[in-house]
Amino acid sequence: MNIKELTSKKNRKEKIAMLTCYDSAFAALLERCKLDCILVGDSLGMVIKGDKTTLTVSLDEIKYHLKCVTAGTSDTFVIVDMPFSTFQENPEKTFSHAAELMAAGAQMVKVEGEEWLLETVEFLTTRGIPVCSHLGMLPQSIHKIGSYRKFGSSEKENESLVNTATSLENAGAELLVLELVEPATSKQITEVLKIPTVGIGSGNFVDGQVLVLYDILGIGDKLSFARDFLSDANSVEECIMNYIQAVKEERFP
Ligand code: KIV
Repeated sequence: MNIKELTSKKNRKEKIAMLTCYDSAFAALLERCKLDCILVGDSLGMVIKGDKTTLTVSLDEIKYHLKCVTAGTSDTFVIVDMPFSTFQENPEKTFSHAAELMAAGAQMVKVEGEEWLLETVEFLTTRGIPVCSHLGMLPQSIHKIGSYRKFGSSEKENESLVNTATSLENAGAELLVLELVEPATSKQITEVLKIPTVGIGSGNFVDGQVLVLYDILGIGDKLSFARDFLSDANSVEECIMNYIQAVKEERFP
């Protein structure tokens, strides 16, 4: 799997199934189940470390989990989150942090943020680092936003999200995660962009879905947009297969 194939899936209208993962045993299982894409998310701060936010994750910590994941995979597309404070300062420093993550086995880095990131996205992508942008609810900005909420409900927010998504694509982003974005806005963005969109809590009108692995296993917080796929399965493997099938057949969300 690679980003060109993910883009072809969008063009063929085949849904992309993505999950977070933080270790090699689960990574190997996700690969056996033929998941399209793994995200080594900074959600590990909350689900692995037990912290209240994702802000505590360091570059070394995410690199450690990335290496665990890539030890368990051979051809699954692996995206890694750039932790808070590793991509805000300037494009040059961001490049060197992103390069460390690429050298540790990632195929793409994900960065949370809006217009202020355009220069960085262009800097990275023109230097060979594929970038996934992340819009809508930005967990790294939780203290600025105040609480988890939906984005795109007002006309102003909808317009701003569509414009920012377009600018990020023009700057070189090759994938876009939309978190807690109103389905109508996700749909508009997905139709306007050539790059694939992957949603979490953002409705069905996106090119793919991503969830935190522990949420489909029913051991995460009971989030309204997630689903426990283990309760109807006979094994963890069946649970993962059921998630992938539900995404592909548009039965989830
Ligand atoms: O870190 C993470 O798990 C994420 C997903 C929620 C998209 O960014």
